[in-house]
Amino acid sequence: MEHRHANYDTLVLGAGAAGMMCAAHAGARGGRVLVIDHAKAAGEKIRISGGGRCNFTNMYAGHENFIGQNKHFHKSALSRYTQWDFLDLVQKHGIAWHEKTLGQLFCDQSAKQIVAMLCDEMARTGAHLSVDTSIIEITHTDGRFHATLEVSGKRKTVTARHMVVATGAKSIPKMGATGVAYQIAAQFGMGVTDTRAGLVPFTFPEGRFVPLAGLALPVRATAGGVSFDENMLFTHRGLSGPAMLQISSYWREGEEIEINLLPAADPFEILRAKRQEQGRKNLSTELASLLPAKLAEDLSKSWTLKGNLADQSDAALRALSERLTGLRLTPSGTEGYRTAEVTVGGVDTDGLSSTSMMSKTVDGLYFIGESVDVTGWLGGYNFQWAWSSGVAAGKDI
Ligand code: FDA
Repeated sequence: MEHRHANYDTLVLGAGAAGMMCAAHAGARGGRVLVIDHAKAAGEKIRISGGGRCNFTNMYAGHENFIGQNKHFHKSALSRYTQWDFLDLVQKHGIAWHEKTLGQLFCDQSAKQIVAMLCDEMARTGAHLSVDTSIIEITHTDGRFHATLEVSGKRKTVTARHMVVATGAKSIPKMGATGVAYQIAAQFGMGVTDTRAGLVPFTFPEGRFVPLAGLALPVRATAGGVSFDENMLFTHRGLSGPAMLQISSYWREGEEIEINLLPAADPFEILRAKRQEQGRKNLSTELASLLPAKLAEDLSKSWTLKGNLADQSDAALRALSERLTGLRLTPSGTEGYRTAEVTVGGVDTDGLSSTSMMSKTVDGLYFIGESVDVTGWLGGYNFQWAWSSGVAAGKDI
């Protein structure tokens, strides 16, 4: 087998959102930069993101939109390379964009434009890209990282003064996610927090929501003490939609979630007023004027609601109202990494500098993007973290 050697200043593992951004900035500082990825092309997750249009950032991105054991770690990188900085880059490349909802910015045409933009930036700053390249072994001697790689079946050793781990996390193994960042962190004596699937649909006992599958409605959903006002979608396997994806990142196995089915109304006041005006109206029928008919029917059945409005005491109406605004359910689980948009948890930020993303114990070793224990909400926040942490490392190199 042919074996070749090459020396670089910086080796970036992973040509995803964070890795490419970092490489472009490291390249701009003049050093020789190599970015490798085991996929056939760079930026595969970007390409499929946001339904093919890439929700590349969020106008309202702020530190409260991120989860991690250390609530302050992400602030530095995010404040030094903001959503407006990334938007400037997008505009410089002539990519048309629009706000879809809640500050979420998408490409008008295609997510491929973001991939092309990052490839252009790398080419402009002289960073080299090597796809179809697997990591066989990494060692660190004499202040340099030595990576044995396999490039299209051929072994090659690359040495570099700096190594940036940008291999993402565990979400969607089908798309090349490996969790190798955690192995590298462990190899270099760095901590990794517990990881779990985030931004992922909930599953419920088989058949529970089948009659309601396809139905969507605005709700206020709560898990782990955090609430989101967004849409919820019933599926054949459970509950999805943005409200559920958002709270899934705060949910722990076995816990309840709480759903307010009428966040914009006070059902007790409405039902009490209706009882006065039209007491002979059937309670279940009245529920269908507040909620989608199928859902009202399902709830009436499972809560065995009976009688007319006039039959209901204030206490009964209050109890019903509390159920509607505080529906408590215990998911059996989530769809897991197979469909999760992100991984919650990752390389422990206690071991990293928040300004440079460099390890506090291994000089020249950086972790960026989703590999790190920083997770954004749904809505462009995760890409913003990839850009910001990538720039923080790239500028430090
Ligand atoms: P990313 O996963 O992008 O890149 C890691 C790279 O490392 C990959 O190219 C991978 O092939 C490579 N790699 C992994 N293991 C390797 C190994 N052993 N050897 C070599 N290479 C290896 N976020 C958002 O803000 N807006 C959105 O619209 C979406 N949409 C979206 C849709 C879907 C379906 C998913 C799954 C995720 C999203 N996200 C999102 C989340 C977003 O994609 C994610 O947070 C970022 O891509 C993370 O960027 P990274 O560069 O850290 O990892």
